[in-house]
Parts: sequence; structure tokens; C-alpha cells
Amino acid sequence: MANVTTRSLLEMKEKGERIVALTCYDALFARLLDASGIDILLVGDSLNQVLAGASSTLSASLEQMIYHTTIVRRGTERAMVICDMPFLSYQISPDDALRNCGRAMKETGCQAVKIEGGQPMATTVRRLVDAGIPVMGHIGLTPQSVHALGGYHVQGRDDATADRLRADAKALEDAGAFAVVLELLPAPLSSQITKSLTIPTIGIGAGPACDGQVLVLHDMLGLNEQFSAKFVKKYAALAEDVREAARLFAAEVREGRYPGPEHSFGK
Ligand code: KIV
Repeated sequence: MANVTTRSLLEMKEKGERIVALTCYDALFARLLDASGIDILLVGDSLNQVLAGASSTLSASLEQMIYHTTIVRRGTERAMVICDMPFLSYQISPDDALRNCGRAMKETGCQAVKIEGGQPMATTVRRLVDAGIPVMGHIGLTPQSVHALGGYHVQGRDDATADRLRADAKALEDAGAFAVVLELLPAPLSSQITKSLTIPTIGIGAGPACDGQVLVLHDMLGLNEQFSAKFVKKYAALAEDVREAARLFAAEVREGRYPGPEHSFGK
């Protein structure tokens, strides 16, 4: 059982301790992030873009999410592992959502699921929570609705949308969600929402007042050069390190300098 639980996350909010989350898609990175004390490993459907090279998250499948969540769990001891439910795996009906989220919980060993949407998802969240499935909500820029939203833009800049987002957050809390991701919201709006809820908010591009922060791992490591955004701080420049290592390997192989005697077997 992971040390980080829905209960401990709530306690962190109460004590004012910040929650740290990163996306994670495999066991190797899971081991590294878990050992670094990251609280939540979110197996985001962003893997469809970051790993699989798709232009959006829409074509991610439940099988893909189950596979990656299973391997992340293998590398994790302390952190909470959350499976991001893909497009159309939970929107059709609460029954369908229960079937698919239940499958994700049973087959992967994850501790929670994440679904996108506010008030229209409240009945589904309640159904899942009543069945014993912890649910993280996700409002603001919800990438599975990118076409309906007209692109990847900051949400809640006008009063009507800001009011709706406040109501969305409250509806998710009332339905039993244990946390909510706020994506691409103006910082003052995230701050208001964070103060109005008893459950933690986890921000991405939503300013500093959220109870926690999440970033896409490959973006913050500087590995994914296909994507850049104002809110992404790069904590490393691994893409260049990878290119440099590959160039060095190629040069050494071509020049006959690798493998040397220390990398070869005598008998
Ligand atoms: O899919 C994902 O990686 C996400 C995070 C960006 C919150 O939903």
C-alpha cells in the first residue's frame, strides 16, 4: 500500500504542506520519482502525445492507460499512482464509467482515477466514489475537450466562465472527489477556488496558490522539445544530453573506439 493516500493528501492541505505531482508513464521513471519523494505519479493520457507522438490525447485507449499504469505501479512504493481515464471511457454513462474505472483499479493496482469535467460529471463521480473508487477531478483546460474549447487556452478569464469553474469545483467536491486538477486558470481564480474547497487543488499553469503542482515529466526534464509553454519550467535539458550521448556513441563505434577491452569478454 502506498504511503500517500487520499487521507494524507487532505491532511497536507490542512497543514498547508504543498503536494508535489508529476506525470509518469513507466517503471524506470517511477522508481526515480518515488525515490525523490514525489507524492503523486499521474499516469496522464498526455502519454499519447509525449510517448506515442499523437497530436492530442483523444486517441488514447483504455488498454494503453492500463498498460502504462501497471508498469508505473511496479516501480512505485510510496507515491500515490493515479490512472487518467481516456476519452470516452467515462463520459457515456455512470455505469460505463464504473465498469472502466473499476477495470483500471483492478488490473493496474492504482490507488485512484482522474476524470475530466465539472458539474456534468458530478453524478459519475458520486457513482465511482460510492463504489469505493477515489476520484481526482480535472477542470479548466480539459485536454479531451480541446476541440470544443477551440484550442489550448487559459480558461476562466471572463466572468461567466469563472463562475462556472467555481461551481464545477464545488460540484466535484460535493460529489466526493478527493482532489481536483486546475489546468490553465488565471492565478487569482485558482486562489479563490483553492480557498473555497476543503479538498486539495493541484495546479498546472494555474498559479502558485494551489495546494499542489503537477507538470508533465518530459516537459520539465527538457526531454520533450515538441512542447513549450509559459508555465513549464525546465529543470534539466535532457534532450540535448541524449543527442550528445548518441553522437558520442556513434562516433566511437564508427572510429572503432567502442567497445574497448574493458567492455569485451576474453573467453
Ligand atoms: O494527461 C496529463 O498529463 C494530465 C496532466 C497534465 C494534469 O492530465
